[in-house]
Amino acid sequence: MFELWFKLLLHETEKVGRDFVGNDLYAAVATWKRMRTILKTLVGQIDILETMTPMSFSSFRDRLDTASGFQSFQFREVEFALGYKRPQVTGAVPDREGQRAAVERRLLEPSVVDHFYRFLSQRGLQVPAELLAKDAALPTQASEPLQEELLRAYQDQPELVILFELMTDFDEGLQEWRYRHIKLVERTIGAKKGTGGSLGVEFLKQSLWKPLFPDLWAIRHRM
Ligand code: HEM
Repeated sequence: MFELWFKLLLHETEKVGRDFVGNDLYAAVATWKRMRTILKTLVGQIDILETMTPMSFSSFRDRLDTASGFQSFQFREVEFALGYKRPQVTGAVPDREGQRAAVERRLLEPSVVDHFYRFLSQRGLQVPAELLAKDAALPTQASEPLQEELLRAYQDQPELVILFELMTDFDEGLQEWRYRHIKLVERTIGAKKGTGGSLGVEFLKQSLWKPLFPDLWAIRHRM
């Protein structure tokens, strides 16, 4: 069931990339709204799993064998499509049915953030040339010159503010999902290692406070 939500999310990340490239603000706003709603649904469903005690989970954990969200190629694709590129985790994706190849392909493709830069430039923001020419395989990095431009847009272009706030909502939603998943893992298996072979909770914590859109967060105290 969760995989279906990841699949839809992936589909929508592709759509929002096209919305940006096509300079279609209203379509992008509608797509981010849908993406935010999918995340809220995912987070809400964790409540059901939290009704499980560690004993009831361990009664079927052995049957999971090595199955883990760690191997979810769709989740990894979603992360890469959103610009959170971590090549070191592709090795956990099973090399079957083209799954790993799909993830590796996604790593090299421009992310939603790369398309966002193009969109902003079409809206008249002075996007630094190095961001527009950025190597698509690299993760998103914060950019101070872009932050200045975003700050100006917050003052001069109210229609963009709606978009920026939605993207911030989505970013917060993904962190909320990470937090709730970690707490679910902590209460179900504690400090045990993951079935996917990672350190479990310690591994998951590495991405907990990592924003997808660092520039949108970095300017909030200046408004
Ligand atoms: C009691 C239930 C669950 C437990 C104990 C659990 C445990 C874990 C652990 C330990 C990891 C770290 C990787 C590894 O396996 O070594 C992980 C990763 C992951 N799990 Fe779960 N999980 C549970 C439920 C879920 C659910 C319901 C979802 C679906 C939404 C999910 C999706 C993921 C994803 C996508 C990752 C990769 C996260 C990342 O790389 O940042 N898990 N899980």
